[in-house]
Amino acid sequence: MKVLAVSGSLRSGSHNTRLLRAAAEAAPEGVEVELWEGIGDLPIYSEDLEGGPLPDSVQRLRRNWAEADAILFATPEYNGSIPGGLKNAVDWASRPRGEAALANKTVAVVGASIGQFGAMWAQQDLRKALGLAGARVVGQELPVARADQGFDESVHERLRDVLESLVIANATRRSYEAAAA
Ligand SMILES: Cc1cc2nc3c(=O)[nH]c(=O)nc-3n(C[C@H](O)[C@H](O)[C@H](O)COP(=O)(O)O)c2cc1C
Repeated sequence: MKVLAVSGSLRSGSHNTRLLRAAAEAAPEGVEVELWEGIGDLPIYSEDLEGGPLPDSVQRLRRNWAEADAILFATPEYNGSIPGGLKNAVDWASRPRGEAALANKTVAVVGASIGQFGAMWAQQDLRKALGLAGARVVGQELPVARADQGFDESVHERLRDVLESLVIANATRRSYEAAAA
């Protein structure tokens, strides 16, 4: 099973990107976690752009996210919510309605901050936006506080749990789809 890992931070030393790398190391057997980059290449969403040939960055986003078995997001918190670039990517992947890359996609959300709340509000907002975009949001928030002090063993265990939740949810979804076909 291929899980795309999308960090909401473009920063080279990002704790959230590091969290996704830790998830790749903690992955259960049979789960391949692949870091996806491209949020910074996207234009700001406008419905006007849907009418013409789509920019390469948007086509790549929609193709890659649609092809993934599941997506694991790691979000920082900016002023109590999701970074604008990440929200913009979710908006692009939420259209066109009915055939959007996020429609029925199995997703999970984790987040890291240097403060004591572990990007909890951003995770809640991202879960809401993903759900409204048609994704199936699995599990609970995983708030990693004081990320600048490193990740302890419990973080690695919880990352593994999140990935296992994605595997189970994906298998359940596939068996429903097979039964309905
Ligand atoms: C514009 C901006 C706003 C921020 N707002 C919050 C916030 O509301 N809550 C919080 O816990 N941390 C906040 N922070 C601190 C981030 O948690 C910290 O910069 C974190 O390391 C960002 O994630 P990254 O390491 O993946 O880039 C903010 C940082 C920036 C740059």
